[in-house]
Amino acid sequence: MAASLPAAHEPSPLVVATVAKAGCGGCHIIPGIPAAAGQLGPDLVNIGATAATRKPEFSAEAYIRESILEPNAIIVPACPLGPCLANIMPPNFGQTLSEDEVTALVAYLANLQDEQ
Ligand code: HEC
Repeated sequence: MAASLPAAHEPSPLVVATVAKAGCGGCHIIPGIPAAAGQLGPDLVNIGATAATRKPEFSAEAYIRESILEPNAIIVPACPLGPCLANIMPPNFGQTLSEDEVTALVAYLANLQDEQ
């Protein structure tokens, strides 16, 4: 999957390492990261576009940051296996990830859009 993405969408080593450390890929499909193929959470294929629509007053980046640090602030309606559930995504990434790691994830995810 990574090979078919334009170079600009290649994740940095920090993004790859952070996704692996945090286990995001156990629950999410994340383009560019082949091991990220989980189905418990929404796929993040088009998150750069949908993130801007979830909360009117939030930019895509602000929404994605909040989704990572405070997963229960908004419960996304649809997940691959049915309605999304609260309290599945770990609520402690603000403690277990550094500011640099969170910033790298937010920047990478905010650029993911499925129309190319
Ligand atoms: C144990 C499973 C699990 C893990 C691990 C997990 N998530 Fe999630 N995630 C979910 C679920 C379930 C939802 C939907 C419910 C909600 O809105 O909180 C979600 C929602 C999201 C959303 C909002 C998506 C949208 O369409 O609005 C983003 C962004 C996100 N996760 C990113 C991440 C990132 C980045 C990581 C790793 C740092 C991560 N998640 C780790 C389960 C998980």
